[in-house]
Amino acid sequence: MPDSFDRIVIGGTVWTPNGPVETDVGIRSGRVAAFGHLKGAKAAEVFDASGLTVLPGVIDSQVHFREPGLEHKEDLEAGTRGAALGGVVSVFEMPNTDPPTTTANAINDKISRALGRAWVDFSFFVGASPENATELKTLERLPGVSGVKMFMGSSTGSLLVSDDKNVARVLKNGTRRMAVHCEDEDRLNERLHLVKGGAPVAMHAVWRDAETALLATKRLVRLAREAGRRVHILHISTAEEMEFLKENRDIATVEVLPQHLTLSAPEAYDRLGTLAQQNPPIRVARHREALWNAVRGGIVDCIGSDHAPHTLEEKQRPYPQSPSGMTGVQTLVPIMLDHVNAGRLTLERFIDLTSAGPARVYGVAGKGRIALGYDADLTIVDLKAKRTIENSWIASKSGWTAYDGQTVTGWPIATILRGQVIMTNDEVIGSPIGAPTRFIETF
Ligand code: DOR
Repeated sequence: MPDSFDRIVIGGTVWTPNGPVETDVGIRSGRVAAFGHLKGAKAAEVFDASGLTVLPGVIDSQVHFREPGLEHKEDLEAGTRGAALGGVVSVFEMPNTDPPTTTANAINDKISRALGRAWVDFSFFVGASPENATELKTLERLPGVSGVKMFMGSSTGSLLVSDDKNVARVLKNGTRRMAVHCEDEDRLNERLHLVKGGAPVAMHAVWRDAETALLATKRLVRLAREAGRRVHILHISTAEEMEFLKENRDIATVEVLPQHLTLSAPEAYDRLGTLAQQNPPIRVARHREALWNAVRGGIVDCIGSDHAPHTLEEKQRPYPQSPSGMTGVQTLVPIMLDHVNAGRLTLERFIDLTSAGPARVYGVAGKGRIALGYDADLTIVDLKAKRTIENSWIASKSGWTAYDGQTVTGWPIATILRGQVIMTNDEVIGSPIGAPTRFIETF
């Protein structure tokens, strides 16, 4: 009796753990069931990937989807629709919603809101606060939880753990790798006078300077060592932090953002104004080059988008009343593939940073590679497609991207989630089947 499959993906170049292979992929019950020449096999559905490149499903391990409380900027339906359109199969969502995600009730509320509305798989971070510090070891083990997120400097929302005593308390109350936003709150407050009352938006990078980021990163790593806790430092933005983190690989993993690899000051502020405002800031080109060297040198573990939508109306407020953040979940794949085409990183490295990396850092179960028995999550791309990114393509409720008008080479052609085609030809398909992503440590 020959094998039968729910779907076969034929004719593509498939990036398996063995490297790129010209092979078909047989999918059964949402999982990868076979490789090889499957053209004549019995299959309910066939996806023809001829001429296309089949990558492991991209995991975006940093998004802000604003639900509950700030749905005028974004919600779980629109945010995950953008993910599917952008070739992303799983998102890890941040806790700075309103109310912040600091309790079991808030986690369960987000999960029930996502079921039946999320186009891609999802999980949620628990926000650390001085009040919930001792409960974090229980909260981080709930199903559907990506881990704990701690803000050491104020950004959007009220979550903040800024002093050594409370940072240490949070670090001691749990074992999973913890995600941290490193900007030093005391230095931010001391230097606020530089922008308070109004300033050109380029001053954002002067106020929240490289030293502000480095101070917090150094404090965090010292306290993490004392607590024996692994940390994942989000959106590293400076050359000096990379130098420091190179010596601390045993305890700290590293994320960078596409926008820090793509934009630089002062050009981005001149061209985009407050649309370029985000935390940590877009900095001068010296830092961007250091981030690329860190990507190529292997210091960086993941690329997350830090999708942080605000409406255009909010962004148009005079700086510094304008909020920080830009959309990104939908543009992560095309922007990074464009960098691949320009020779700035290899496709192997792209895969490591966007699927294997997040899976390794957070201990994702059954995702992050195209392998027998793993979820059949596939990001199918045309590496040679030349397309222009436009605001009209963006699903986010905020309706804009910092890359509007930019032509890129490399585009997501289809997204397959657990064997189901959820996007082809820039349209989502079927109904939202997103489910909680599972983690090895919380089985
Ligand atoms: O620019 C940012 N925006 N950085 C953050 O850390 C938070 C985010 C947001 O939620 O708006």
